[in-house]
Amino acid sequence: MSIVFLNNEFMPMEEAKISPMDRGFLFGDGIYEVIPSYDGKLVGFGPHIDRMNQGLEMIGIQFNWSHEQWQSICQQLIEKNGNGNLGLYLHVSRGADEKRFHAYPDNVEPTVYAFAFDIPAANIPDKSKVKGYRVATTQDLRWQRCNIKSTALLGNVMHFQHGHGQGYNETILFNAENNLTEGSACNAYIVKDGVVITPPLDHQLLPGITRHMLLDILRKHSDIKIEERNVSMEEVMSADEVWLTSSSKEIAPVIEIDGKPVGNGEIGDTWLAAQTLYTQHKHDY
Ligand code: PDD
Repeated sequence: MSIVFLNNEFMPMEEAKISPMDRGFLFGDGIYEVIPSYDGKLVGFGPHIDRMNQGLEMIGIQFNWSHEQWQSICQQLIEKNGNGNLGLYLHVSRGADEKRFHAYPDNVEPTVYAFAFDIPAANIPDKSKVKGYRVATTQDLRWQRCNIKSTALLGNVMHFQHGHGQGYNETILFNAENNLTEGSACNAYIVKDGVVITPPLDHQLLPGITRHMLLDILRKHSDIKIEERNVSMEEVMSADEVWLTSSSKEIAPVIEIDGKPVGNGEIGDTWLAAQTLYTQHKHDY
């Protein structure tokens, strides 16, 4: 049985109830985070909470818990749900109003919900021990504020389903200029001639915490060159390697796009070098 946190109380998931007038339910009016935890150790906790606070500020929800408050909730959820490989889901919605009206209401208490769920074990930096992803592609039809980690995820859900429905593990997205933006639930990268290339941060993609940590680790601890710039569809289709990152995937190597092999169809050496460094340094954050 899963123990969750709702509005200052821990309880079995079955007992957690919110109002149907909650604006998270009616409008997707909220911000969320997913933080990975392995054997009780959270990865990237500080940057995740900072991003959540920035998101809440961007959408005008007056709510700013300290890192210590969130840390205590995460640690209790980990203890109550077993110390395995867990994702900590944290969610703050604007709260329940008495009417359905688009404007931000005054004097409404935000709804705070958090739970733990199983995630895959951390990647082992060994080509034979990691899953190669097969992905689909489609045009990115989401809104112009993908930098906000909003709970309104229907666009992402529909894009994920596009690939999932055809048996793929993810869907990578291209804007109207045919440049790569990200995956439906992850950031995306190519490797060409040993250079790691990923789209720059802007309104078209989420500033992933795994992305931030990976680029920082590579810059600090390796000679691997990094470019943050537009990546065209042709570059993706002719890349030596393609990777995805997210809190639950770490660095996932892509071996097939729309049924065509990436590079020679094998997991690449740059992935191995990057995942090795990420595994060594991810607890520095
Ligand atoms: N997804 N881009 C999108 C659209 C995402 O949904 C995510 C994360 C990322 C990667 O961000 P991070 O490295 O901070 O996890 C990029 C989460 C895990 C989810 O929705 O389940």
